[in-house]
Amino acid sequence: MTFYVTTPIYYVNAAPHLGHAYTTIAADVMARHHRQRDEDVFFLTGTDEHGEPVADAAHALGVEPQELADRNAERFKALAPKIGASNDFFIRTTDRQHEAGVQRVLARVRDNGFVYEGTYEGWYCPRCADFKAEAEIDPGNRCPIHHIELTREQEDNYFFRLSAFQQQLEQLYAERADFVAPRTRYNEALSFIRSGLRDVPLTRHKLTWGVRVPWDSEHVFYVWFDALLNYYTALSYARGEDLTGEFWPADYHLIGKDILRFHAIYWPALLMAAELELPRHIFVHGYLLMEGEKMSKSLGNVLDPFVVIERFGADALRFYVLREVPFGQDGSVSTASFELRYETELANELGNLASRTLAMIGRYRDWRLPPCPPDPALGADFEELTERVSALIDAAELTLALEEIWQRVRRLNRYVEENAPWRLAGEAERDAELDRVLRSLAEGLRAVTVLLWPYIPATAERLLAALGAPDLSLAAARLGAGGIERVRHVEPLFPKAA
Ligand code: ME8
Ligand code: MG
Repeated sequence: MTFYVTTPIYYVNAAPHLGHAYTTIAADVMARHHRQRDEDVFFLTGTDEHGEPVADAAHALGVEPQELADRNAERFKALAPKIGASNDFFIRTTDRQHEAGVQRVLARVRDNGFVYEGTYEGWYCPRCADFKAEAEIDPGNRCPIHHIELTREQEDNYFFRLSAFQQQLEQLYAERADFVAPRTRYNEALSFIRSGLRDVPLTRHKLTWGVRVPWDSEHVFYVWFDALLNYYTALSYARGEDLTGEFWPADYHLIGKDILRFHAIYWPALLMAAELELPRHIFVHGYLLMEGEKMSKSLGNVLDPFVVIERFGADALRFYVLREVPFGQDGSVSTASFELRYETELANELGNLASRTLAMIGRYRDWRLPPCPPDPALGADFEELTERVSALIDAAELTLALEEIWQRVRRLNRYVEENAPWRLAGEAERDAELDRVLRSLAEGLRAVTVLLWPYIPATAERLLAALGAPDLSLAAARLGAGGIERVRHVEPLFPKAA
């Protein structure tokens, strides 16, 4: 089995913020979970470096686009390990091999008859690098996302015959109800298709910062076509051998709802035009909102992930964003709700469960766990847990999967209270009972920790090491699969921040 998951490639017109970290964290959770299932995983992220947003930002700073791209690509690249992302490659659309791949595929699209010359006129947002349909424009000819004034642009370019795919796209949506999720996004994409597709510009004439059009050197490709193709080109050179046969088509493209139309409509049409296989799933998450506004580079109201990580660690941030905001919906984030979840859930519920469990085994059994099977009463509550979690992650329901796991963390805390090991320890004739309670707690803790690993990998590894059970495979997430013998003390997993 193989599993290929991608994030959008981020514009290098400014520095990374929590919104970018969010998608990368989500993709990382999926990648890690599939590795636990022993699948061959390829996880791709990277930067989108061409086009008007980057050229304009560079111009404003008085530097060449390449210089700005180099500078900011470094910052995005540095963000990945900081947030614990285990991406297999980091693509930059200025990579020579990517550019050559774009030229190859789009020349084929032209050879197949889906490109023609024309003139385009419309309302254009330079920040979106996109023409806006009349219906979506805000009053005063403003961009609905960036609130800046749109410009009326007219340009000779080559067009992509998107309209030719009207029927095939409708058929795609009819046949594959899970092509786009959540359902609201599927419906949104489908109704856009049904409203009638118009051809779109494939190239830009006025711009030079882009991939050269091989059949007309006065043009560069419109940045979105260049960008979308990253998902495909990366496989051909990421590892020095061509992995396309192994990993294409992608299993999941994770994206924010701002770029739905490009992924749900242009992208499959482009792949059809190039006679390439379509991705299996596109999952569209919502916006992280701060005080009700979408966080964005252009608006500047950002919660700095670097600062949060510095104080609380990457795992806390990963947990928080996937726990606080139901994956697939919009939701507010704030430092106040972050601190609340950190304290009540990470520190109190998981952190205390871990330190209590280990400390009791230390105190009552000198850090050794006598062999005995776990409590069937607890076993029932862990029945089918890995299957449920897997099924939810297969559907990219990352918040629901985390909730399934977290219910077991809470169950284990109740189990401690119900069985009061400190009382059993005072009664010599209840030794076997105490063994069983301690074993059940250690096993339950181990099982939830294996399942939590994709979400909080560094913490999970630390805890599993203390439990003397480093096996991360999903098969190990069953109660009783662990064979714990000795445990050791662990420093607080989620200490109070300095
Ligand atoms: O659109 N909440 O790049 P981009 C949630 N280069 N997610 C957010 C977010 C927020 N407030 N802000 C950003 C581009 N994101 C193109 C993509 S793909 C072939 C080309 C995330 O830098 C989310 O994934 O504007 C969103 O779709 C993406 O960053 C946009 O990043
Ligand atoms: Mg954007």
